[in-house]
Amino acid sequence: MSERFGAARIAILHGVVRREEKLLIEAFGRAAEVDLVLLDEREIAFAPASVYGFDAVLSRSVSFSRGLYARRIFEARGVPCFNSARVAEICGDKLLTSLALERASVPQPEFRVAFDETAALDAMEAMGFPVVLKPVVGSWGRLVARADDRDAAESLLEHRAALPSYMHHVYYMQRYVDKGGYDVRAFVVGERVVAAIRRLSANWRTNTHRGGRAEALAVSEELEFACLSAARAVGGGMLAIDLFETVDGYLVNEVNDTMEFRNSIEPTGVDIPGAMAEHVLSQVMEGAGACGRLAS
Ligand SMILES: Nc1ncnc2c1ncn2[C@@H]1O[C@H](COP(=O)(O)OP(=O)(O)O)[C@@H](O)[C@H]1O
Ligand SMILES: [Mg+2]
Repeated sequence: MSERFGAARIAILHGVVRREEKLLIEAFGRAAEVDLVLLDEREIAFAPASVYGFDAVLSRSVSFSRGLYARRIFEARGVPCFNSARVAEICGDKLLTSLALERASVPQPEFRVAFDETAALDAMEAMGFPVVLKPVVGSWGRLVARADDRDAAESLLEHRAALPSYMHHVYYMQRYVDKGGYDVRAFVVGERVVAAIRRLSANWRTNTHRGGRAEALAVSEELEFACLSAARAVGGGMLAIDLFETVDGYLVNEVNDTMEFRNSIEPTGVDIPGAMAEHVLSQVMEGAGACGRLAS
């Protein structure tokens, strides 16, 4: 970590350092004029009126709450964050994401929300089974459940109701989309879709954490349009967009703020961490701050 005069001082906020973070550290290391600081979220304690001297913070925290609140503090004290706290807040919550997509008229699977078990069952009946029930905050497919009929839905909801967090009592439901054994993940960096993959799986939850396999996908104009519209809808930045390909076109399922790309570099041959480092540095240089040019 060199202290060079005039270098951009970039902090990477992290918890567990995964392969993604190692690759990002390498990518920033290759860039000229970068003074990189690793900021372990487990060690920081924000004091009143702390002065950081960072030109930007790149959040790579896997914890939604830590990544979000740390960014709120940095931004409030004048340090731009990538992505911004607002983008993290929207992307970290499936309902906020759905509302942002809805407002921007970006096609997504039909969704409904209820706070009561009976109201949730009625909503599922109205949509038609199978239905997917998801915690509004969560990742890696955890507790994302499919109910094929009313009986299954009843027991699912009963289990959810017994969980302690309020989050599990917000019943966010989606119509099940027959996606043909795969979904699509595209990586947006600023105003570009830099790479895309198909995630194939025998399991209806195609998360690579659950054994989903990545295969390169050429970025069509239609895919690019869907991804850039979704990115814009949530505020822009560096985002992994998950989509379902249907006969009626792409549906955006979710937008991930802290993108995981380790399984996508090899099949696509795209240097995703390199593109991210370049983006952060160009935004810092432009003084455009955390919002990026896509922000509306
Ligand atoms: N409405 C749906 N229809 C079909 N498959 C779905 C639906 N929602 C989620 N899935 C599958 O489940 C996986 C996990 O759901 P997702 O919404 O991405 O939650 P997470 O944030 O936990 O990854 C998706 O990648 C997809 O394969
Ligand atoms: Mg997902």
